[in-house]
Amino acid sequence: MKLAIAGKGGAGKTSITGTLARIIARRGRRVLAIDNDLNPNLSLTLGIPAERMSDLPTFPAEIVRLNEDGVYRLAMSLAQICGICSVPAPDGVSLLVAGEPRTATGCQGATHMAVRGVIGAAPPGEGDVCIVDLEASTEHLLVATAGHADAMYAVVEPYGKSLETGRRVAALARKLGLPRVGLIANKVRDEHELGSVAAYAERHGIELVGAVPYDECFREADLAACAPLDQDPDAPAMHAIGDLATRLVGGGGPAAEHSAGRVTAPLPARG
Ligand SMILES: Nc1ncnc2c1ncn2[C@@H]1O[C@H](COP(=O)(O)OP(=O)(O)O)[C@@H](O)[C@H]1O
Ligand SMILES: [Mg+2]
Repeated sequence: MKLAIAGKGGAGKTSITGTLARIIARRGRRVLAIDNDLNPNLSLTLGIPAERMSDLPTFPAEIVRLNEDGVYRLAMSLAQICGICSVPAPDGVSLLVAGEPRTATGCQGATHMAVRGVIGAAPPGEGDVCIVDLEASTEHLLVATAGHADAMYAVVEPYGKSLETGRRVAALARKLGLPRVGLIANKVRDEHELGSVAAYAERHGIELVGAVPYDECFREADLAACAPLDQDPDAPAMHAIGDLATRLVGGGGPAAEHSAGRVTAPLPARG
């Protein structure tokens, strides 16, 4: 299963992607996490020590080649790519960091096409999960990168511009023909905010696949330069992301079914 996580900058894509990846891996899946942000920081959310962030390997320049038809294509197998630049993260997650364009032309499109190729090459099926933290990029890049995903989810905060971005992402994902598209509400402070995201989703015919409460554990993790899941594994947001994982890929091992139902979030009391 191949999941792309998109949304406006600051919405919480990286926080949710990294935590989801670890929770899914703890449940017995093989997880490949891909950081497709030019300013990569998924490693930290995955629990890789902050001091390693600056020298993590990124995609090699030879990962793609420019074909005669003018299109970049993957020039290596996934096994070769992982052999060169995958980084082991806690709970058995493997991390690939796309990084800055390093092709001769320095073209960012080449990096996005490499990510697209890697998603395409990732194993299909329920046992393996590939999860991509997409940069808050312009629409054509989103199209280029996420074309081979099975699902695209937009992380949205409960306010207008963030929701609008989510709607645009969902429209694009549908245009791409991705089988599953939805919104993940993040930083939800109360039932009223959850209700407003749910109403927006319903109005635009987009599935609301989960909700994560506003949680101080993220700020504490930021300050301590550690993963939110290590900072406070029992925080309400960690439980909410656990529920989200169940809804996105099922609860247990490879045979688990998708779960469905109304989205609820363990919300802190208002006040
Ligand atoms: N549910 C949440 N509650 C509180 N703070 C959050 C939550 N999710 C993310 N954050 C914080 O919001 C900021 C942006 O999150 P990040 O995951 O980096 O966003 P993005 O990858 O979409 O740019 C970070 O400081 C992060 O700690
Ligand atoms: Mg990010």
